[in-house]
Amino acid sequence: MSKYILKINDLTKSFTSDKDKSPLLFDSLTIEFPAGAVIGLMGTNGAGKTTLFNIISRLVDCDKGNIWYDNGDKQIDLLKLKANVLKGIGIGRLFQDNHIFADMTILDNLLIGGEDSFGETPFITLFKRKKHKEKEKIRVAKAKMILTELFGKDNYFWQNRNNYASELSYGQQRLLGIARLLMSDHKLLLLDEPTAGVHPEIREMICEVIRKINTSKGVSIIIIEHNFKVIEVTADECCFIDQGEIAAVGPPEDIIGNPIVRKKYIGI
Ligand SMILES: Nc1ncnc2c1ncn2[C@@H]1O[C@H](COP(=O)(O)OP(=O)(O)OP(=O)(O)O)[C@@H](O)[C@H]1O
Ligand SMILES: [Mg+2]
Repeated sequence: MSKYILKINDLTKSFTSDKDKSPLLFDSLTIEFPAGAVIGLMGTNGAGKTTLFNIISRLVDCDKGNIWYDNGDKQIDLLKLKANVLKGIGIGRLFQDNHIFADMTILDNLLIGGEDSFGETPFITLFKRKKHKEKEKIRVAKAKMILTELFGKDNYFWQNRNNYASELSYGQQRLLGIARLLMSDHKLLLLDEPTAGVHPEIREMICEVIRKINTSKGVSIIIIEHNFKVIEVTADECCFIDQGEIAAVGPPEDIIGNPIVRKKYIGI
């Protein structure tokens, strides 16, 4: 049985076809991310963290390489797939930008994350009303269960589920974005800076939620993060990328104490 969730092999990426004019962002990047762990991905601005997520999520192509994903019964090369099938094989993503719909309710923001969301087939709601209502009931019950598991009984999100998401603070919207990912059954979550720009109190809640999702559901999580403290309390393993290269890998305390990392981040 494999022990990785992702194995990145010989990944090469440049943003233009003229390699002389544009240096490679990734030059044969090779790394394994262990299954069942929270992995912190750190690195300076422009190091390539989000691009790596974009390549994994199939939003950006690469020039060469493989990304093996352990789908339980078989290993899949993600680079052979299209972005729209990733949710179906258990890969979810929280984007660096906020993707909460402010003029939808809190509940509707959650429901669109479900596997059986009606999405772009609205006529089903006209012709199969009974079936639609039953499914809707199941999805609402799932949303309630997720919110209760993550935030406790009588939590703020459930109590205010019919309010517009615009009423939530930025930090609460990030929490809602993470909760929404649980509406589908994921094996791997890619979280791009979930705590950036968030008040310390909510930052702590986000850290707790990340740990909870990992320990109670066994979901592997890769979290891009600039904050040492967040990495310290959430991550089992940490990887530091510098200009497209893996500069250091190890337990968070080793990476945070690493002289290259400290110099790059805080200049000492
Ligand atoms: N579509 C694109 N076209 C050209 N260059 C790009 C494109 N996307 C990213 N880059 C470049 O690739 C490099 C890596 O960017 P990326 O967004 O992956 O960095 P990052 O590590 O996520 O940084 P940050 O911590 O600021 O979010 C940067 O130099 C960026 O300008
Ligand atoms: Mg980024």
